[in-house]
Amino acid sequence: MRSPEFRLVVKTVCATLAILALVGALGAYAFMRSGFYNIAATSQHLQFVYTFLEQGMHHSVRFHARDISAPALTDEAMIARGAVLYRDHCVQCHGAPGVAPAGIGMGMQPVPGPLIDARSKWQPNQMYWIVRHGIKMSGMPAWEYRMSDEQLWQVVAFMQRLPELTPAQYAAAVKESGTDEKSGQP
Ligand code: HEC
Repeated sequence: MRSPEFRLVVKTVCATLAILALVGALGAYAFMRSGFYNIAATSQHLQFVYTFLEQGMHHSVRFHARDISAPALTDEAMIARGAVLYRDHCVQCHGAPGVAPAGIGMGMQPVPGPLIDARSKWQPNQMYWIVRHGIKMSGMPAWEYRMSDEQLWQVVAFMQRLPELTPAQYAAAVKESGTDEKSGQP
């Protein structure tokens, strides 16, 4: 049998925690309603907000991509087609060796980083998931309805090669002037 004193302590602790949680939630709501947080793309997130969102994104991608298995990504023709898709749909925001992002990419917040290090941050199945579904509230578009599944894997295959390319090699890889059959965009 627990003593009445013990039960009183447990009850007091629980009530205190509940009140603190309520005060916290109300405080967060009041802060949101105040409009004080600056959502301008010209001002960076506070570091802890950025870290929170970034880590949440990583966990979400890892979770949602868990059942996807990547095909072989070493075929040269596949990588070459991926390079053209990258030039048409990605370089504007992410840049490439020797190519700065266009104004649209430079004006975004979060800034779409160069994908040179993407290979070390993401497994191919996770990259595929990101490119296919996009990332909410970040500006990373979803390509699911704009590229075929085959093309999505071609871009992923190209991203495996990207870190090794010099500016001259990148320029040569994207020189082929094909059009993306699905969207018809140059
Ligand atoms: C309109 C701009 C835009 C375009 C076009 C775009 N992206 Fe993104 N991308 C973003 C933004 C913004 C993020 C999020 C950056 C962050 O969270 O730090 C992102 C994130 C990513 C990430 C995760 C990167 C990381 O640092 O963790 C990958 C991989 C990626 N994009 C690949 C692509 C590919 C491949 C294409 C072309 C098919 C593409 N993106 C086209 C804006 C864009």
